[in-house]
Amino acid sequence: MTDTPSYLFYQSRNPRPFLDHGEGIYLFDEAGKRYIDGSSGAMVSNIGHANPRVLAKMKAQMDKATFGYRLHFRTHPSEDLAAKTVAMTPEGLDRVFFVSGGSEAVESAVKLARQYALTQGQGTRYKVISRFPSYHGCTFGALDLTGYDPLREPFAPMMEGMPKVAAPATYLDRDNLTEEARGLKYAELLRDRIVEQGPETVLAFVMEPVGGASTGALVAPDSYYARVREICDEFGVLLIYDEVMTGAGRTGKFLAAEHWGITPDIVALSKGFGAGYAPLGAIVAGARLVEPVLDAGGFLHGFTYAGNPLACAAGLAVLEELEEQDLIGNAARMGKVLMGELRALMDRYPFIGDVRGKGLLTAFEFVADRRTMEPLDPLLNAHERLVELAYQRGLIIYSRRTRGGKAGDHFLVAPPLIITRDQIAEMMLILRDALDAFAAEIGWPVESAA
Ligand SMILES: Cc1ncc(COP(=O)(O)O)c(C=O)c1O
Repeated sequence: MTDTPSYLFYQSRNPRPFLDHGEGIYLFDEAGKRYIDGSSGAMVSNIGHANPRVLAKMKAQMDKATFGYRLHFRTHPSEDLAAKTVAMTPEGLDRVFFVSGGSEAVESAVKLARQYALTQGQGTRYKVISRFPSYHGCTFGALDLTGYDPLREPFAPMMEGMPKVAAPATYLDRDNLTEEARGLKYAELLRDRIVEQGPETVLAFVMEPVGGASTGALVAPDSYYARVREICDEFGVLLIYDEVMTGAGRTGKFLAAEHWGITPDIVALSKGFGAGYAPLGAIVAGARLVEPVLDAGGFLHGFTYAGNPLACAAGLAVLEELEEQDLIGNAARMGKVLMGELRALMDRYPFIGDVRGKGLLTAFEFVADRRTMEPLDPLLNAHERLVELAYQRGLIIYSRRTRGGKAGDHFLVAPPLIITRDQIAEMMLILRDALDAFAAEIGWPVESAA
């Protein structure tokens, strides 16, 4: 019951119904109402809910040991998951460090980068450049890299204030450049920032290869990725890919980096890596970085639950499921279907200004005017309102403000990678119904053609 007293708090009070159970792409509340998990929670439940094979493997591990401290024992689940992770990531990324979530993964990546720099006699390097908008987590280190004003502002005096560059939001550009040239233009912003800061002070650049919560599945032009890699190499700046949301198959490759043939220096994983079966994350880096740190006395960092055997057994079972059910291939195939359906919405709803994404990480953005891409009036609170209308109708999607958190509304549609064509059609019916209701509320006629 929603009126049961609660002693819990999150970002706000929680008016939602109690969850009863999940099954595949569906969640059921205690009243028996069914919801399509159109955002995999927060882009987490990549293999769907209550996968019986994963649960059986977790149960088998539970019967043996649920915890064994990493300083006291090696465990097979953690060794096997590390080996599997290395096998699934591009060559050159062959050392794994486990954590329990995305913010921890990002912080771990940055601290590994720093310790590596120290081993190279480059103690002057400490600045980590990131993009605006972006999301990298909510702990202080990760928050300082995050480009989303409402989350940062209260804590700004307590952080270093790491340098930012504009995220490549080329869909807002009104210049005459080709996409290729725009990609290079945004990459040059990174070069300019490194030069301005003093290359000897810059440790790393961190980016989401496909944007997540803060940009809404932003994909840069192809030219951007290779040029950013070149620029980092030119100045000895480490390239960190935050694949917390994009990793583990979400975009139709195990790492989004593979779409562009990029090998980052360090990759952060979480979300789909444990896929909601266990709090789990990892960083994956090359031995080239890790071995000197171990030789110099070790990585001065670690969390109590790192490499927890139960979490790792879950993660291993998730990766096996991805392979055995070809879920990464399904993400690529169904991503195309979903993207086509979302693009078709633009014929009916003039307030949808952009549709973007990769694989099953897709998003659409509302605008007041497609020509200028001016956002809707922030007071409409459209990002919350449409989510609510969809929720009432049994569809869960995920939204945020787009333009750094102050204005703009985007919606992530990122269902579990097991979704079928029929289930996409089912999801779209509810989404259209919610969009119709939203259009009626703001008094905006829809085009009847679609
Ligand atoms: C790209 C990215 N990095 C880091 C995080 C932080 O992860 P967590 O909330 O598990 O700490 C998130 C979470 O949304 C994310 O999307």
